[in-house]
Amino acid sequence: MPSFLFTAPLPGPAEEMLREVGEVEIAHGYGPEELKEVAASGRYDVLITQLSDQITADVLDGAKIKGVANFGVGYNNIDVDSATANGIFVGNTPDVLSDASANTAMLLLLAAARRAHEGERLVRSGQFQGMTPELLLGADITGTRLGIAGLGRIGKAMARRALGFGMEVVFVQRPPHDREVSDDELGDLAGKVEQVSWDELLETSDHISLHVPLTPDTKHLIGADELVRMKSTAILVNTARGPVVDEQALVTALRNGTIEAAGLDVFENEPDLADGLAELPNTFLLPHIGSAERSTRARMGEMCAENALAMARGGVPPYPVNREVAR
Ligand code: GLV
Ligand code: GLV
Repeated sequence: MPSFLFTAPLPGPAEEMLREVGEVEIAHGYGPEELKEVAASGRYDVLITQLSDQITADVLDGAKIKGVANFGVGYNNIDVDSATANGIFVGNTPDVLSDASANTAMLLLLAAARRAHEGERLVRSGQFQGMTPELLLGADITGTRLGIAGLGRIGKAMARRALGFGMEVVFVQRPPHDREVSDDELGDLAGKVEQVSWDELLETSDHISLHVPLTPDTKHLIGADELVRMKSTAILVNTARGPVVDEQALVTALRNGTIEAAGLDVFENEPDLADGLAELPNTFLLPHIGSAERSTRARMGEMCAENALAMARGGVPPYPVNREVAR
């Protein structure tokens, strides 16, 4: 009978699906040592993991598991090369969360632009004294240019939303590299969004939203140098991964008015924040809830279960990260 370990409970039908075919255990808050121990124990065929679980080479070398089903589209928490070298499949949950994640990016852009956090506090504090013409003036959205850094599935979903808000959309598909994207690849966005160089995106965008995976290439994609090249009225939105932005440099830039504001759903050292970030009024901060719409999260759980089931049976998961394990 296959056996599965969830490192945290999942929303939706995942647990029930796997209980129908095998044994399920649910752990809470395992650290690296416990993960290594359970992976090596031979008790589980598949681990169903969270973005906060670090599935390192140390965990994977000597692991007696067939697969890791990660709850999320990103998998920078897993050393995929080690998994592949050890014949262990890794699965993720792509596509289903693109709209929810783009909704969060738009929420952050609007909230940071319109100073939602300051407005909310004012109303709740009892200090609101009625509408006045200059109360909480914020940044323009409609008619401005949005630079999308990373035009994958989520970046494209963000582009559609920005177009709906009357923004002009420019993009770099995989910054910092400029790669030519064909109209075919752009699909419904062909003719509606414009490809520019990374330099041009940084310097001419009114606002910038990040949608790249975290890789060695994209670590600190936005650092002090990039921040000074952005417009002083720019808003930076990050729903991708915290380390894509040098968070301490961002705090300095926000404090000095190098850029106007930031909307962040992810942090460089999650759940810790860079010194000073929480005190800045010109930020809107969310606790990594990019995909947290009920049906999205339920479907992500279901996909994890589908991945886990296939891997436990010795097959390729339906949503594989390292399909090459099958060779
Ligand atoms: C969320 O951050 C994900 O990668 O799914
Ligand atoms: C992730 O799903 C992406 O390609 O943006």
